[in-house]
Amino acid sequence: MTQHTMMTGRPVISATGLFTPAESITNEELVASFNEFVRRHNAANAEAIAAGDMEPLQESSVEFIEKASGIKARHVIAKEPVLDPDTMAPRWRERGNDELSQMAEIGVAAARQSLERAGRDAGDVDAVLCAASNMERPYPAMAIEIQQALGIDGFGFDMNVACSSATFGIQTAADYIRAGNAKSVLVVSPEITSGHLNWRDRDSHFIFGDVATAVLVEDASIAPAGHWDILGTKLKTVFSNNIRNNFGFLNRASPEGQGGADKLFVQEGRKVFKEVVPMVAEMIVSEAARLGIDPERLRRLWLHQANAGMNRLIAQRVLGHEATADESPTVLDTYGNTSSAGSIIAFHLHSDDLKAGDTGLICSFGAGYSAGAVFVRKAA
Ligand code: COA
Repeated sequence: MTQHTMMTGRPVISATGLFTPAESITNEELVASFNEFVRRHNAANAEAIAAGDMEPLQESSVEFIEKASGIKARHVIAKEPVLDPDTMAPRWRERGNDELSQMAEIGVAAARQSLERAGRDAGDVDAVLCAASNMERPYPAMAIEIQQALGIDGFGFDMNVACSSATFGIQTAADYIRAGNAKSVLVVSPEITSGHLNWRDRDSHFIFGDVATAVLVEDASIAPAGHWDILGTKLKTVFSNNIRNNFGFLNRASPEGQGGADKLFVQEGRKVFKEVVPMVAEMIVSEAARLGIDPERLRRLWLHQANAGMNRLIAQRVLGHEATADESPTVLDTYGNTSSAGSIIAFHLHSDDLKAGDTGLICSFGAGYSAGAVFVRKAA
């Protein structure tokens, strides 16, 4: 399709897809492995600790994790090495250039499900955006590999806005539709967050899980019945060092294998909590006003899944009352924080019961800071 012949369009979400890794780690399993690592570390450094030259590491606790975050378990692609106190990181065989790469594989699985649910032939998709917090390699783009694996004739590219990658991807796709440059765009978010998590850091070792989601954004003229009209989208970024990862091609891990803890995810969790809640609530309320939507009448909020307490506060400010689980569903308990995929998992698992005319909000927030809001209404 050429952009010269297409009319401007009206974007909708035709369908979503979800890939969940088979393996899952409970808080009990995670803490047992972490505490074993702590005991071994402290025993190995007993002399320095006794001499006051080194602080002993502290143990983690199941109760703390659940109370502070709401997370009870998380899926991972490679459970055994993550739980091995000597490794505490995902490990897998490096794949050859002629094999489908790890991220593409789970992205394709989620994408296929979204295509099936929409009744869409991959040949009719125009573009693929791979929107995620980390890319397996700089190039060729993950999106182009996913495009090729699905048999899509068009274009693809990668984009990274950390936890807001998926919503930024949805607005980008919606803008292609609005401008008439595409009629069908796949936004794929393979989030292998186990790779950037420091499993040896007590403050954050419990946070993340692996998953992949896909959102098929299309022009209303070709969308299946029961799709979701996109009423409006809003993006916001404000620079902050409170969630940061310094890994990059200019500062590779040393040949000895140690990149340093700052080459993994680090955050000031308390500050993130305090600063992001008001920023996101304000963005939602002002964008709702611009769209003529009464936020208190939103039928459901599919919020970013990072912390149950943050979601409780944001939902309260938007809805004007304490949200029920039906109004603001959580997937944090079983998935943990899956970065940009979290709000899409919540939408995927908790939207089939809504009726035509029901209005809801998909909303993400996280590193950058970044925040994205997608207001949707179920069509007949
Ligand atoms: N087990 C037991 N205790 C722990 C612990 C663990 N794993 N980790 C920290 N603690 C202790 C701390 O040492 C501290 O003890 P102290 O009061 O004696 O000093 C206490 O628990 C509170 O620690 P703190 O880090 O302030 O916890 P918190 O209540 O802020 O919760 C988060 C931590 C990460 C769950 C929370 O800050 C959060 O979710 N923030 C938002 C994060 C977010 O959304 N990030 C986006 C990522 S994409």
